Amino acid sequence: MLLKLKGQTAIVTGAASGIGAQTALLLSQEGANLVLVDLNSCGNTLSTIKESREEAAVLECLGDIRDAEFVNAVIARASDTFGELHILINNAGTCSRLNLETMTLDMWDRDMDTNAKAAFLFTQAAVYPHMMDQKYGRIINISSISGLNGGVVSGGSKDGRSGPAYSASKGAIIALTKWVAKELGEHGITCNSVAPGATASAITAGIEYDISDQAIKRIGTPVDIAQAVLYFASPESSYTTGQILKVDGGYSFG
Ligand SMILES: NC(=O)c1ccc[n+]([C@@H]2O[C@H](COP(=O)([O-])OP(=O)(O)OC[C@H]3O[C@@H](n4cnc5c(N)ncnc54)[C@H](O)[C@@H]3O)[C@@H](O)[C@H]2O)c1
Repeated sequence: MLLKLKGQTAIVTGAASGIGAQTALLLSQEGANLVLVDLNSCGNTLSTIKESREEAAVLECLGDIRDAEFVNAVIARASDTFGELHILINNAGTCSRLNLETMTLDMWDRDMDTNAKAAFLFTQAAVYPHMMDQKYGRIINISSISGLNGGVVSGGSKDGRSGPAYSASKGAIIALTKWVAKELGEHGITCNSVAPGATASAITAGIEYDISDQAIKRIGTPVDIAQAVLYFASPESSYTTGQILKVDGGYSFG
């Protein structure tokens, strides 16, 4: 079987659960070496990967992606272990659902730093010097349709609506995606974003989404998102950069 990513190395943040775990599994099934990054143990992801492909090479790096020293250490370990770094998936995220009135500075900083600052830190450290030296790279940022539409109102009430920090951070990562794409296209490095709609994971547990406005009448799964990431991560997407792909069951158009 032809593996799309054979011999390539992929870093996936937020790989302990949800979208990150499925993305890591799918990239590994396509032959990539995996660097799993999370605050929490990636033990489950690691065993699923090994069950699926016994010879898979996996490195686990546990720590806080808001910390620049940790990010630099991850990139150094990944490069020492696997050599070249081909794919970076900025996926880890937090979502405060406090509204404008009750939002605290701590929560604002947490969401902005996890969802936006960490993506900048990882991108900078992976590109300079690694992807630049290789003249090749695939950077994929997991944003959200909240970064485009200001936060989905769920279940007929505003209870499940993502908060202002979340929407602002996802808007920031969308703009960062386009900025980086323009900067690095001439060096063989692409940068794209997948913007999920409501997807079943820890972040959405307990929230009932109104799917009546979606063309496809079901909530998304982490596998749906991982499949979109795989396109951007593969060599075949070499003529696509700066794009924001909404994977939301046909909730938003245009
Ligand atoms: N699930 C959805 O409906 C949905 C919709 C749109 C966008 N997204 C985005 O998808 C991404 C993945 O979310 P998910 O749905 O899989 O949720 P999840 O909670 O299952 O996964 C998020 C992961 O990020 C990790 N993480 C959080 N803060 C971290 C930090 N400071 N350092 C290291 N790791 C950290 C968590 O430990 C967790 O494993 C997020 O960026 C989220 O905003 C999700």
